Amino acid sequence: MSRSAHPAGPRHADVLPEGHYSAPPADLNSLDPKVWSETVTRDEHGTLTVGGIDVKRLAEEYGTPAYVLDEDDFRSRARAWRTAFGDNADVFYAGKAFLSRAVVRWLHEEGLNLDVCSGGELATALSAGMPAERIAFHGNNKSVAEIRRAVEAGVGRIVLDSFQEIVRVAHIARELGTRQRVQIRITVGVEAHTHEFIATAHEDQKFGIPLAGGQAAEAVRRALQLDGLEVIGIHSHIGSQIFDMSGFEVAAHRVVGLLKDIRDEHGVELPEIDLGGGLGIAYTSDDDPREPHEIAKALTEIVTRECEAAKLRTPRISVEPGRAIVGPTAFTLYEVGTVKPLDGLRTYVSVDGGMSDNIRTALYDAEYSVSLASRSSDAEPMLTRVVGKHCESGDIVVKDAFLPGDLAPGDLIAVPATGAYCRSMASNYNHVLRPPVVAVKDGEARVIVRRETEEDLLRLDVG
Ligand code: LLP
Repeated sequence: MSRSAHPAGPRHADVLPEGHYSAPPADLNSLDPKVWSETVTRDEHGTLTVGGIDVKRLAEEYGTPAYVLDEDDFRSRARAWRTAFGDNADVFYAGKAFLSRAVVRWLHEEGLNLDVCSGGELATALSAGMPAERIAFHGNNKSVAEIRRAVEAGVGRIVLDSFQEIVRVAHIARELGTRQRVQIRITVGVEAHTHEFIATAHEDQKFGIPLAGGQAAEAVRRALQLDGLEVIGIHSHIGSQIFDMSGFEVAAHRVVGLLKDIRDEHGVELPEIDLGGGLGIAYTSDDDPREPHEIAKALTEIVTRECEAAKLRTPRISVEPGRAIVGPTAFTLYEVGTVKPLDGLRTYVSVDGGMSDNIRTALYDAEYSVSLASRSSDAEPMLTRVVGKHCESGDIVVKDAFLPGDLAPGDLIAVPATGAYCRSMASNYNHVLRPPVVAVKDGEARVIVRRETEEDLLRLDVG
């Protein structure tokens, strides 16, 4: 039976009344450090600056929309996770949140490992020089070609997601004359109280092998018998945008229970457990995420306590934060195109991007905040909805936001906390070109993923 364990915060659990929005902040020009990256500030003219560069210059040089990524902030978050977990644990950055070769190099330099979940992510990681043994390969339906490539490259672990895959990976490893280190991903029956599509550890979904009914134990039994596999541990990922640690507590309890059963049945103490990612970030001032050191302390204590109770050696822990590292490091810079007041309702502010660069609002009902970026303003707050340029009324970037009443076409606005799952889920809907990712640091900016061009579009369309 599922156990409801961790509401992901009211903004993600549909508990607020329909049409709810917070009251306007006392000062619309203020920048809440919870949602902005560490170098974001306003200069003496009121213009937003990041990494020592003002957004007007960024817009002139790189155009809008653009994802602007604060390299120092990325590195310090990566380092904070690394330091918090210390030498007895491993941090695997979840590349699905956002991956590029520059990011892979930063992670490598900061001593993190990398979780990839497709051949494309694996290729990106390898091409940027991430050592294969520091890569974990995920996915519920890895192709034979992807598995072969991963085994040949020598990835540190493949996370097995089904009975078929246990056999498939064992077979490929034997064929290649090697033994592949693997973890087995199980579902522990914790229901993540977050959006239904991003809850992954309850049983009625596609990931992992259920603990229920002895299926996970059977998977371990089979994997242990296969020459091509070295079973190093159990993996559990319970969901996304989670603030409450009690879901991890239940998951750790159940994973350790399985380790104990494995020890009792096979006389083997598996040396590792991976508790996945899913730690929440602040999208608006209402969200209160935890610091990496608090999370590390809580997870380590939970696992140690559970293992002591089960009389097991404490396994090496790994975690896979994606959003919690890259989410707050970037904002999306847009130019306002039209401002349309609807009497008695709100003002619609259309920007030059939309659901093609941020699908999360449409897909998950996600909440974002927004600020006027090219200048400050003392005008009265007006209730707005920031929308994109796509041919769809659900093309919403920020559902409810207060912006200054003098907002006008040509102003730049910035939506913070768009580092995770925005560029990586971007599309070409309406043949809109995907924005670049511009990294800023110490007064310098450089494009790490360039803007798509019409030539790119036409190159794929072979007539
Ligand atoms: N590990 C595994 C096995 C995962 O499946 C995921 C996310 C992560 C780690 C990283 O989770 P994070 O720390 O980034 O929350 N597109 C959705 C999120 C999907 C997450 C899928 N798996 C969103 O935009 O919210």
